[in-house]
Amino acid sequence: MSRAIYPGSFDPVTFGHLDIIKRSSEMFDELIVGVLYNSAKTPLFSVAERTQMLEEAIREYENVIVICFDGLLIDYMKKHDISVIVRGLRAITDFDYELQIAQSNRKVSDETIDTVFLTTSIDYAYLSSSIVKEYARYGTDVSDFVPSHVAAKLKERFYKMQ
Ligand code: PNS
Repeated sequence: MSRAIYPGSFDPVTFGHLDIIKRSSEMFDELIVGVLYNSAKTPLFSVAERTQMLEEAIREYENVIVICFDGLLIDYMKKHDISVIVRGLRAITDFDYELQIAQSNRKVSDETIDTVFLTTSIDYAYLSSSIVKEYARYGTDVSDFVPSHVAAKLKERFYKMQ
């Protein structure tokens, strides 16, 4: 059985992430979406909230599950016998960072792990969780960028912060 993991912060999940999930779920028997901790970012939503938003968004896919953990991605992968990481590439600006992570994950895993890159659909090439949060913070409708339950959650969060 082929298995892959799609890791990320997903703070929150966007249509860009869901496009990668849909396409990679068609390439592997099982796709695990991992909500992880990125030490370079301060998230708006807790891991539990991000996981719950993702779970609701991926309901239609029978071979996709959502997990969360605090720790190294490669440790989780070794423990669960997963050897492929999926990541999306939006533009050349993503490439330096993604290449560095992919190469270091491969090195630290004694070359047992590979990263597969999917190019993000042109429709979502400009999209990021940060941009969505910035628009939502100022009351702009973000339903073109995220599922409706995520848009509602953003609205609620920023309303409470006012
Ligand atoms: O969506 P992001 O924030 O670009 O995803 C980055 C993420 C969460 C995949 C990366 O930070 C990660 O793998 N974190 C888990 C800890 C880890 O394994 N770190 C080593 C590689 S940076």
